[in-house]
Amino acid sequence: MSKPIVVVSSPMNSVGVELLRQHYDVREVFYGEAPPQEIANALRDAEGVVTRSLPLTRALIEQSKSLKVVAKHGAGVDTIDVAAATEAGIIVANSGDANALGVAEHAVVLMLSTLRRVPATDRMVREGGGFAERERMVFGDLWDATVGFVGFGNIGRNAARMVRNGFQAKILAFDPAVGADAMKAEGAEKVDTLQALLERSDIVSLHLPLSEKTRHIIGRRELLAMKKHAILVNTSRGGTVDEHALHDALREGVIAGAGLDVFETEPPGTANPLFASSNVVLSPHIGGATLAARTRTSRRAAEAVIAVLSGSRPDYPINPEVYSRARAQTE
Ligand SMILES: NC(=O)c1ccc[n+]([C@@H]2O[C@H](COP(=O)([O-])OP(=O)(O)OC[C@H]3O[C@@H](n4cnc5c(N)ncnc54)[C@H](O)[C@@H]3O)[C@@H](O)[C@H]2O)c1
Repeated sequence: MSKPIVVVSSPMNSVGVELLRQHYDVREVFYGEAPPQEIANALRDAEGVVTRSLPLTRALIEQSKSLKVVAKHGAGVDTIDVAAATEAGIIVANSGDANALGVAEHAVVLMLSTLRRVPATDRMVREGGGFAERERMVFGDLWDATVGFVGFGNIGRNAARMVRNGFQAKILAFDPAVGADAMKAEGAEKVDTLQALLERSDIVSLHLPLSEKTRHIIGRRELLAMKKHAILVNTSRGGTVDEHALHDALREGVIAGAGLDVFETEPPGTANPLFASSNVVLSPHIGGATLAARTRTSRRAAEAVIAVLSGSRPDYPINPEVYSRARAQTE
């Protein structure tokens, strides 16, 4: 009997690929490299897919008639039409906290490199300068700073631990789904409104999912609420920030800087006006790209596929209602 087909749609650590190969006919067809039609054709006969960046649209889901599981290699499922998958009876599962430590570390990297303007000073030295200019250079501090977390789930909590334990930072958090006691247990103070968090923080770090509710949650009004010396760090999704408003705020000195791992459009293209700002530090959506995080995430994604295709529940289902719908239909 032929093995079920599982599509891996982005390069991933060999741990997960090898695990899948023990059970399935694994087809590696990479988004951004293979023509879209080749990916659609591979999905047509597949029972499972591991996706990182491949958008799982309604059209793609509806034409993939054999699909039973979409495993997200990572946490954010904004590129997957979860409603369409649920209607089709397809389980969507993410990788839980598998890459949380890696992304949390990168948030701290962006905090420090924005405060210390690492790319700009690196460039100065390479160009033969920096030493005269340093006499006037003064940077912001992470030590003892007030850091405000918007979203206090797996990544926000881990980043908070790092800056609290490592830098004695005071932690504020805004997350309607996390109670004050749970925040207190992490050494954080629950703040009831986004506005209050923005007004009080020296560093604002975003760790919430992108949805229609959170799109542009940081716009002109929110940036104006921040302190003039404050910086914004975004390792969540680019769409949570209105990039035009951020560009204006940086140009006008409304805030002091920004560290961005994610963009409204990815890749952002070279004409993005933010690139002209010297007080912005950028990286190409690599928050979860450490060896440890990639290894854990790859294994988690493979385990989700194996769980569903062997009739069990995955550890981190996004649409568990698929199971109750299936039960209701058989009753
Ligand atoms: N840069 C990267 O490489 C990278 C990697 C992984 C995840 N991410 C992004 O980070 C996000 C967070 O990941 P996580 O693992 O911490 O997810 P999580 O689900 O553990 O936590 C997200 C938290 O955000 C909160 N939240 C939702 N809406 C909110 C709102 N309007 N205001 C404040 N809080 C809100 C939720 O209640 C939840 O506690 C993901 O959704 C993903 O988009 C980025």
